[in-house]
Amino acid sequence: MNAQEKEQYLREYSQLKNAGKPFFPYAVTKDGAMAAITLFVIIAMAILFGAELGPKADPTTTTYSPRPEWYFFFLFELLRVIKPPSLVLMATLGIPTICLILLLLLPFYDRSPERHPLKRPIAMIGAVATVVAMAYLSIIGALGGPPSEIEIPVAAAYEDGAAVTAASGCLGCHRIGENGNTLGPNLTAIGDRLGRDAIARTLINPTSPMPSYQSLQEENPEQFEALVDFIASLKEEAAEGGQDTQ
Ligand code: HEC
Repeated sequence: MNAQEKEQYLREYSQLKNAGKPFFPYAVTKDGAMAAITLFVIIAMAILFGAELGPKADPTTTTYSPRPEWYFFFLFELLRVIKPPSLVLMATLGIPTICLILLLLLPFYDRSPERHPLKRPIAMIGAVATVVAMAYLSIIGALGGPPSEIEIPVAAAYEDGAAVTAASGCLGCHRIGENGNTLGPNLTAIGDRLGRDAIARTLINPTSPMPSYQSLQEENPEQFEALVDFIASLKEEAAEGGQDTQ
C-alpha cells in the first residue's frame, strides 16, 4: 500500500465513521436481541420436542462399533490412517491444534492489503486445500469401518472367525496386523507361539484383565470354534504378506 492509497483509505474510513453509528450500544443491542431470540427458540424446542436419544447404553455389548458424529469423521479417519501409537496424539490433537493456532494468528502473519481472491494465491490455495482435505477425509471416514476391524488379509475359510473376533472386542486390547491396542500381547503371529487348544483355554480361562469368553463357547459354540480357528491361523508367514512395514 503506497502513501496515496493509504491517504485515500484513511479519508474513506473517517467519512464512513462519521456517517455510521457506534458499536456500543447499537450493534451490541441488535446482537444481544438476536442471541436472546435464538436461545429462546432452542429452549422452546427442547421443551416442546425434546432431544432424541439413542438406545440405552449396554455395557455388556460386544458388537458395538463406535462411530463419531458426521462432523468428526475427518478426525476419525485421521485416527485410522495414522497407525503408529506414538503418532496418534500428534495426529488427533496436534494437527488440529496447530491448524487452529495458525488460523488465530492469520491477521498477524498475513499483512497483505489485497482482498481479491485472485490476488491472494497462497491464502486461496491454503484454504481450498484445507476444505478439500477435510471433505476427502470426512467421506472416507463416513464410508470406512470402525478402527476395531480386522484389516489383514483373511483366507476365505477364516472369514467367519475374523468377523467374530472383530465383534468380540479383542482389538480393544490386542493388536492384529496394524489395528488394535497394546494392552494385551500382539496377536498378529500368535499361532506360532500357541496351539489351537492353548488359545481356546486362554479364552475360557484367561488371566485378568482379559475377560472370559466361556459364555460365547456355551451359547454359540460354532462362533467360538471359528474364533479360535482364526486366532490359531495367525502365523508369521501369513502376516508378512499383509504387512509392508516392520
Ligand atoms: C480387556 C482386554 C482384553 C480383551 C478384550 C481380550 N484380551 Fe486377550 N489378553 C489380554 C491380556 C492383558 C493378556 C495377557 C494376560 C497374561 O499376562 O497372561 C491376554 C492374553 C491373551 C492370549 C495369550 C497371549 C500369549 O501371548 O500368551 C490370547 C491368545 C488372547 N489374549 C486372545 C484374545 C482374544 C482372541 C480376544 C477376543 C476374543 C481377547 N484376547 C480379548 C487382554 C485382553
